[in-house]
Amino acid sequence: DKGGWSSFMAKEITEQPDAVGNTIRGRVVDGAVEIPELTELGDDRLREIDRIIIIACGTASYAGMIGAYAIEQWARIPVEVQLSHEFRYRDPILTDGTLLISVSQSGETMDTLMAVKYAIERGVTTVSVCNTQSATIPRESDAAVYTHAGPEVAVASTKAFVAQITALYLIGLHLGRVRGTLAADAQASAVAALDALPAQVAEAVDTHEQIAQLAHWMADTRSVLFLGRHVGYPTALEGALKLKEIAYIHAEGFAAGELKHGPIALIDHGQPVFVLVPSPRTAPVMHSKVVSNIQEIRARGARVIAIVEKGDTSVLPYADDVIRIPLTDTLFEPLLQVIPLQWFALELSTAKGLDVDQPRNLAKSVTVE
Ligand code: M6R
Repeated sequence: DKGGWSSFMAKEITEQPDAVGNTIRGRVVDGAVEIPELTELGDDRLREIDRIIIIACGTASYAGMIGAYAIEQWARIPVEVQLSHEFRYRDPILTDGTLLISVSQSGETMDTLMAVKYAIERGVTTVSVCNTQSATIPRESDAAVYTHAGPEVAVASTKAFVAQITALYLIGLHLGRVRGTLAADAQASAVAALDALPAQVAEAVDTHEQIAQLAHWMADTRSVLFLGRHVGYPTALEGALKLKEIAYIHAEGFAAGELKHGPIALIDHGQPVFVLVPSPRTAPVMHSKVVSNIQEIRARGARVIAIVEKGDTSVLPYADDVIRIPLTDTLFEPLLQVIPLQWFALELSTAKGLDVDQPRNLAKSVTVE
């Protein structure tokens, strides 16, 4: 049931406030994050961790990349993110202090399952972030931290992605608390950001009308670039993946700082570029660097579509379109910024007359290696 929407993807985009809210529910107790499934692993075990490897594919891997920033910041554990299908082939260094976190909406992705099994065979503790109750990966893992996004039908992942980021943040906050690395003020501000999140996600969903108009003039676009810095970088990768997947448009995401190391050569007159602009309040240095990037690409003819926090007027002289999202902390920006990018892919797919929910050549769950 599409609930009155023209596609499951559209319905699932609008369900994101609940996906986030339901993933948080019951896991914040007296202003602190507590995930019972992690508590069961034993606090001593959690204190021994000296390295985390996140494994996932596709959109889940971008959630993993975003989660890595938060876990490192709050729990002060080095985190690396590896694509599941690359993991085994590099003879990974796995020690007693390694924790492997897999991220998978379906819990059945064969590449990810094989990586989890590889780690289990070598005695590594495994945690599964999964959206599907009792799927294979969470059953095989030592602990399962479920996302509660509800069933996701569209091949293009949307609500599962925001729920995955949320779950990884909760894991970071839990680990930070148990390990004593999470300062009281950092915990308070993260919990406040989590509290505000469902309503803010709903506001970001309301960018639909603006994005639909934007997509209208861009129906013939053959290439779109996405730029971001810090957590905006994996968000840019996700925006590009959505567009490839359902609108069959060539798209690439870049770390904004990488522009001058090559990609800026792609910028030609009229090239559309989405830029994820970090908050000037919480990340002033990154903000000013991204604004400089906007000036550089604009000077070379780019059509700039800037996603900024409300009240940030710094890009107005250089951006062709400005999309505004609510104010939050830097780490939480991807959960809001990604939503207009999801709408954009959906609207371009629709404008091209494509099947939004069932893109060619793709399956919802990839159960072969
Ligand atoms: O079920 P999983 O989360 O393990 O799936 C991983 C990827 O196949 C998946 O995220 C894929 O990239 C989506 N179609 C993206 O929209």
